[in-house]
Amino acid sequence: IGPDVIDIRKLYGQTGMFTYDPGFLSTASCESAITYIDGDKGQLLYRGYPIDQLAQNNDFLDVCYLILNGELPSAEQKLQFDSEVTNHTMVHEQLATFISGFSRDAHPMAMLTAAVGALSAFYHDATDITNPEHRRLSAIRLIAKMPTLVAMVYKYSLGQPYIYPRNDLSYTGNFLRMMFANPCEDYKVNDVVERALDRIFILHADHEQNASTSTVRLCGSSGTNPFAAISAGIACLWGPAHGGANEACLQMLENLQANGGVAKVGEFMEKVKDKTSGVRLMGFGHRVYKNYDPRAKLMQETCKEVLSALGLENDPLFKLAMELERIALEDPYFVDRKLYPNVDFYSGIVQRAIGIPTPLFTGIFALARTVGWISQWDEMISDPEYKIGRPRQLYTGSAVRDIKR
Ligand code: ACO
Repeated sequence: IGPDVIDIRKLYGQTGMFTYDPGFLSTASCESAITYIDGDKGQLLYRGYPIDQLAQNNDFLDVCYLILNGELPSAEQKLQFDSEVTNHTMVHEQLATFISGFSRDAHPMAMLTAAVGALSAFYHDATDITNPEHRRLSAIRLIAKMPTLVAMVYKYSLGQPYIYPRNDLSYTGNFLRMMFANPCEDYKVNDVVERALDRIFILHADHEQNASTSTVRLCGSSGTNPFAAISAGIACLWGPAHGGANEACLQMLENLQANGGVAKVGEFMEKVKDKTSGVRLMGFGHRVYKNYDPRAKLMQETCKEVLSALGLENDPLFKLAMELERIALEDPYFVDRKLYPNVDFYSGIVQRAIGIPTPLFTGIFALARTVGWISQWDEMISDPEYKIGRPRQLYTGSAVRDIKR
């Protein structure tokens, strides 16, 4: 425990004291050795490695291995891990029946929350959370099956047949094929798109105790099974202040483009600064980063690469986003409040260029974050001293009173 941190466990019970900290602005809920963020420097480390180095040198399954196990894999460990994940990409055939019970126009996150929770009804052979081998198998299953489920949810919404996993492809190549292939034609994975999406997965893999991860920990702290805990995390991620921000950000850019584009940016920014308007610049601001989010920088580079590879260099939404950023970085409203682009500001533009529909953006985020959630859950469960999460409250209701007869 560092110099600015009080270990409340030492005070609790001795003084009867507890802290009141709505929104957890300055309360640590756990110890963790997985991810480190320095919000002032704009630094993000997974197990000590800077995010930009991982995004440059490693693929998503390397990063999954690292986050889960604490070290990057050797060549032999990587082969084994890839093959294990590949072996678990299929989902039980009855899950297709389960998904087909939904309305075709249901939001993908609604279907995904339910489908991941339902995994516990199919893979209950290994949900003894006291058994490390069961926990590892659940982690592999979740990482392996998420792309299959996200693609199924998408295909279902289109009314198209599901495309089954092809295990000779990479994790991300296989996902692209399940999303975009049709059963009558060959599908060739575009290398630039594959690398870009893989990078999006890396950038979203973990982010310490954000709202959805804290939800997974809190839900898991009751001893529930990991599929149920991850399903709770997906439900939390859905909200527009969290993972839903990429969808909300793209909608904001599309609306702005449809209503005057770059010429109207100044007017739009005035609305954002007017607190009575209720309008926020989506994809801007972060609870922890009070400097440029390092993921946003990498996402902006990826955006340029993908747009150029797909011949979309003049994409009007990208130009609009760059202009919004330029103005915001010079405007005292944003400068004084330390509001910078976050990972969601550019990720929607990349995903749109790849062909991913806007309502599925948060599903892509959930796919990538699954490794972070399950690793954080495992870290908590492995601690022999972990306790059920049970916040206190300040009661503001009525004093004790009797029912009048
Ligand atoms: N646009 C305009 N003003 C903003 C924005 C924004 N995007 N974000 C924060 N502010 C202002 C607030 O109005 C507030 O101003 P005030 O001090 O005058 O009242 C100040 O900046 C601090 O904002 P809070 O909401 O108190 O900051 P908090 O840490 O609670 O919220 C959050 C962080 C939710 C991310 C916020 O910045 C936001 O709503 N951003 C837009 C949504 C978004 O992009 N979310 C993605 C987060 S990253 C992720 O989940 C992957």
